Amino acid sequence: MTTGKFIVFEGPDRGGKSTQANLLRQSLHEAGYSVLLTREPGGTPVAESIRKILLDPANRVTPRAELLLYEASRAQHTEEKIVPALAEGKIVICERYTMSSCAYQGYGRGIDMELINTANNIATNGLTPDLTLVFLMSDKYFLKRGEYLFSDRLELEKDEFRNKMRQGYKELVKKTPNAVLIDADNTVEEIHAKVLAYLREFKVI
Ligand SMILES: Nc1ncnc2c1ncn2[C@@H]1O[C@H](COP(=O)(O)OP(=O)(O)O)[C@@H](O)[C@H]1O
Ligand SMILES: [Mg+2]
Repeated sequence: MTTGKFIVFEGPDRGGKSTQANLLRQSLHEAGYSVLLTREPGGTPVAESIRKILLDPANRVTPRAELLLYEASRAQHTEEKIVPALAEGKIVICERYTMSSCAYQGYGRGIDMELINTANNIATNGLTPDLTLVFLMSDKYFLKRGEYLFSDRLELEKDEFRNKMRQGYKELVKKTPNAVLIDADNTVEEIHAKVLAYLREFKVI
């Protein structure tokens, strides 16, 4: 049984998830709420060990193994950290969750979406977010924000993958209950105001 609220921040890299998650934690904390800000693998030792397998360049992890490793890490993080915090009545803000598997392993790598949904259900044991905020920005802003980060042309050649992700996330928002799209081209302050407005609309605060 959970009494807290579960908020998930989703979207491709560099869309401002971490920036907004930190701002939201601060605002909620100042308003007197008890908040847990977390992201997969969530600092749980088992999930961290799984992440090492995923990130080790010496490993050739197949797409289905990759899916299951992420799900194993999610199961551990959910049971060890998220569910207990919700049971204590906290507002849990989690950067990336099940929708990332649908976007990256489904739209990105082409694994059947029903299989991913099944794997997600095993990992979450049926826990679903009270609100999923999906941060999407246009290519123009993506390139501008990342300018100083691009060390070679390889990253710029990932346009097609980025478009696929963006399209995937748009479709996922339509299919997912309590999920909304946030235009990440706006300023940090404008987006933060929008985030708070959605929290009120979805009765999180
Ligand atoms: N609304 C915004 N406008 C301009 N730059 C931003 C905005 N939000 C975040 N940034 C910057 O963009 C970069 C990526 O943001 P970050 O929050 O780390 O994204 P994510 O966690 O989605 O990967 C950071 O350098 C951050 O300071
Ligand atoms: Mg981040």
